Amino acid sequence: MTEQSPALDNLLTESRTFPPSEEFAANANATSEWYAKADEDRDAFWAEQAERLHWDTKWTQVVDWSDAPFAKWFVGGKLNVAYNCVDRHVEAGHGDQVAIHWVGEPGDTRDITYAELKREVSKAANALLSLGVSANDRVAIQLQMIPEAIVAMLACARIGALHSVVFGGFSPSALRQRVDDAQAKVVITSDGQYRRGKAAPMKANVDEALAGAESVEKVVVVRRTGDDLGGDVPWTDGRDVWWHELVDGQSEEHSPEAFDSEHPLYILYTSGTTGKPKGILHTSGGYLTQAAYTHHAVFDHKPGEDVYWCTADIGWVTGHSYIVYGPLANRVTQVVYEGTPNTPHEGRHWEIVQKYKVSIYYTAPTLIRTFMKWGADIPAKYDLSSLRVLGSVGEPINPEAWMWYRENIGANRCPVVDTWWQTETGAIMISPLPGVTHTKPGSAQRPLPGISAKVVDDKGQEVGKGGGGYLVLDKPWPSMLRGIWGDDERYRETYWSRFADQGYYFAGDGAKYDNDGDVWLLGRVDDVMNVSGHRISTTEVESALVSHPTVAEAAVVGATDPTTGQGIVAFVILRGGVVEDQAGGEEAIQALRNHVAKEIGPIAKPRQIMIVPELPKTRSGKIMRRLLRDVAENREIGDVTTLADSSVMDLISSGLKSGK
Ligand code: WTA
Repeated sequence: MTEQSPALDNLLTESRTFPPSEEFAANANATSEWYAKADEDRDAFWAEQAERLHWDTKWTQVVDWSDAPFAKWFVGGKLNVAYNCVDRHVEAGHGDQVAIHWVGEPGDTRDITYAELKREVSKAANALLSLGVSANDRVAIQLQMIPEAIVAMLACARIGALHSVVFGGFSPSALRQRVDDAQAKVVITSDGQYRRGKAAPMKANVDEALAGAESVEKVVVVRRTGDDLGGDVPWTDGRDVWWHELVDGQSEEHSPEAFDSEHPLYILYTSGTTGKPKGILHTSGGYLTQAAYTHHAVFDHKPGEDVYWCTADIGWVTGHSYIVYGPLANRVTQVVYEGTPNTPHEGRHWEIVQKYKVSIYYTAPTLIRTFMKWGADIPAKYDLSSLRVLGSVGEPINPEAWMWYRENIGANRCPVVDTWWQTETGAIMISPLPGVTHTKPGSAQRPLPGISAKVVDDKGQEVGKGGGGYLVLDKPWPSMLRGIWGDDERYRETYWSRFADQGYYFAGDGAKYDNDGDVWLLGRVDDVMNVSGHRISTTEVESALVSHPTVAEAAVVGATDPTTGQGIVAFVILRGGVVEDQAGGEEAIQALRNHVAKEIGPIAKPRQIMIVPELPKTRSGKIMRRLLRDVAENREIGDVTTLADSSVMDLISSGLKSGK
């Protein structure tokens, strides 16, 4: 297991708990009886949750696990996901309700009602059809947080095409890798994006990515930055088409087709322990059921009353499940913000909360810690009294950040829900229920009703109270991944081989039970780092480094970082012949950092690169990252007896001390 972060050291001594107010409890969506009810008859519980959706054909079986680990949920059922997220609300008389309060970074805004969203999604669906996209085709989307991103995703869902959203910060080669793996037929992007007050190109990067990409027939380009970008948008005649020219003239009528409950909905790539990202596959009925149920229960969302804001980007799963699918299925009114939290000032989020009277706010610990750094006086300047539920996701939240969030944003009044889940789980799995749970700073506490999770030891035996080990999911759940795109073997190997005897899903996270039996998440136990809530594999960054001509060998570790959770620290051996002063110099290190950003994306830029003469390896040649982590975190170096050459660590340490 990886060492736990010092920020979590006090976790087993945490004794503060915060009961819900009577008023909150009396009006809460969830009740404590749900736990027992779900335990008694899990299938019946999920069948009831599935009734949140409109089914064109009702299912005949709740779950089919006979071909484990390949699940089928709501077998035989048919539905259209986009219809569930949009049309049915219009048909029920809520066409005038605002679905999206969109806020552009430069300050422009758009309010989009459900009626308007229905028209936009229908036109976009017709547009995709006109390009020859049909059910089961893949559409890659690389867009910033603009309404067209959501419209494009729903348009794909509406016609049964799979979207593969690629985070806007990914490099051309990362985009290309994903486009090739999914064999995307169409790519949707924008001319440019506003970032920290400036327009930056998007289309140019996409063009670089797509040079020679054989599967891609069309590239659809949303005009966002226009003249602000300066210069022409690179264009390939015959392949490229402007979104407005393609979509605006389309019919506003489109009849949604009902697809099988197991019809694939999307692929979303996430880092694994090898260099190649995994295309996580999600399907329709079970996914939407759990996304809607959890959004209802965990955020206590009341349609038509609440204003919800999830600050994630649609490039990540949180954006998929808690901006697009869960909230829209529940007829949310939500804020979508295009930009960075400190543009043009550090109070931007609170200004938005105040303006739109946001009542549910869902963000990541890394941002909470950033807000802490900026100072409590900033949120204090705004009226945040509309807030009533606060959520956290993406990485372990340290009790200090949790308390700061509760006190300074939630005025000691709002329940804080720390939600544990993954791209693979599709929706929230472990979380307090507001109005029910007595919350505890830093703990995700308990699997949701209908979900079963355990902390087990090496042999798969559940540990007792106060014990730690690996987090597993021991029963299938509706929004579980259905596989890795094109690689069933990797799916079995990655998630189901570690505890094959028990048939448990291995989440890759370390966890503990405290003395009350509440679950605490401790971070990844594999070679995946979590930087600002983004999953990045050590191997991916190592491959990027060794692809640079000056690098002979590289080892990468995630080191505890007070703001980003973990920071990327790289140890690099340079090729013989690279002159010392050039090698050890800041310039060379900067060049390597930029190289990684270019290969993967700015989020993967190492925080620190250390040039070393050797790397610590076992006799079988495996790099001992544990020892490098000790160096990166300025700790005493641990047990070196299994090293092939035990003097290596001295060599590394002395080299670093002498400033090389
Ligand atoms: C981590 C994001 C502790 C965890 C939804 C998991 C968390 C990985 C929490 C998934 C949390 C997510 N407490 N750790 N509340 N939420 N994680 O796929 O290591 O981007 O395995 O999904 O983030 O990251 P992913």
